[in-house]
Amino acid sequence: MLILNKTAGVFSKPSKRNMYEFLRSFHFHPGKRFLHKLVLGIETSCDDTAAAVVDETGNVLGEAIHSQTEVHLKTGGIIPPVAQQLHRENIQRIVQEALSASKVSPSELSAIATTIKPGLALSLGVGLSFSLQLVDQLKKPFIPIHHMEAHALTIRLTNKVEFPFLVLLISGGHCLLALVRGVSDFLLLGKSLDIAPGDMLDKVARRLSLIKHPECSTMSGGKAIEHLAKQGNRLHFDFKPPMQHAKNCDFSFSGLRHIIDKMIMQKEKEEGIEKGQILSSAADIAAAVQHTVACHIAKRTHRAILFCKQRDLFCQSNAVLVVSGGVASNLHIRKALEIVTDATQCTLLCPPPRLCTDNGVMIA
Ligand code: KG4
Ligand code: ZN
Repeated sequence: MLILNKTAGVFSKPSKRNMYEFLRSFHFHPGKRFLHKLVLGIETSCDDTAAAVVDETGNVLGEAIHSQTEVHLKTGGIIPPVAQQLHRENIQRIVQEALSASKVSPSELSAIATTIKPGLALSLGVGLSFSLQLVDQLKKPFIPIHHMEAHALTIRLTNKVEFPFLVLLISGGHCLLALVRGVSDFLLLGKSLDIAPGDMLDKVARRLSLIKHPECSTMSGGKAIEHLAKQGNRLHFDFKPPMQHAKNCDFSFSGLRHIIDKMIMQKEKEEGIEKGQILSSAADIAAAVQHTVACHIAKRTHRAILFCKQRDLFCQSNAVLVVSGGVASNLHIRKALEIVTDATQCTLLCPPPRLCTDNGVMIA
């Protein structure tokens, strides 16, 4: 979590002159102009530098994103100072691209909205520092945004969803179940007690050296696991979903990860291969891991739905489960959640993949 005064020392301040030159680079001539208020959204909480301009009716006028995934794949995970440096190198260009795509000049903006928490302090600092300079120069209002609230509310851009609805956020950095009662009224029902599912899948993929697999070398860990799982037989391994007897809606992935690690080590011994080489059973392991993660997520979500139903917490007309985050793009996990929502007469909604992962639109 970001504690703002703690990050003050890590801000990478663009100089006043740079910001002035940046603003002078826009040559839009006011003419037709805009009927609605326009917000520029800026996101740098993790490893995506993203910006977008959205009007007050939810129209996306333009957006831009720079993903650092490829760099972090090579180093085997996110190194915060590297992420910070990449944000610094790209933020100005990305904001410029989003504004240019929108045909909006900075002076036409009504406000600037930026993620202030939670996330990597070094990464957040870049977006925040840039935004505060912009706000200062343009004399525009600043809207601080909570990253998770933005993820949870994004579905309202694409679907008409009444409050309250249940949201499941599953990604590399997030894992939570919350009842969304209003724009800034959230009831947290469950969260991961340790790591997020995407983080766990990334670690398992790294342990299986999937980056060396010809079909997976450019994929994130989770995507590589999903890809390989299609070629494997999950019944060859038997991992138990965690927290089977815990009477709450929390999650846990660390214990499962260690069990999988041990099993991979044992298989390496059996196959007589070194750590770093790909096991012949990698696809079977991927399939079993994916299935166990899907079962765990589905079971905890089932508990949350039953809790909300028993207490009449859902919107009267329709019980809705919204699932978002990078892991939500996994079709096996979606299928497991569909089984749960079908059995409980809920509607399952997922934003389109580009809005599931980190982006500037959700912040704007
Ligand atoms: O939402 P996101 O882009 O970034 C944050 O973590 O905030 O999610 C990235 C995570 C990574 O851990 C990645 O391995 C995982 O989502 N992921 C997937 C899939 N695609 C991405 N996990 C499972 N199946 C996928 N198809
Ligand atoms: Zn996120």
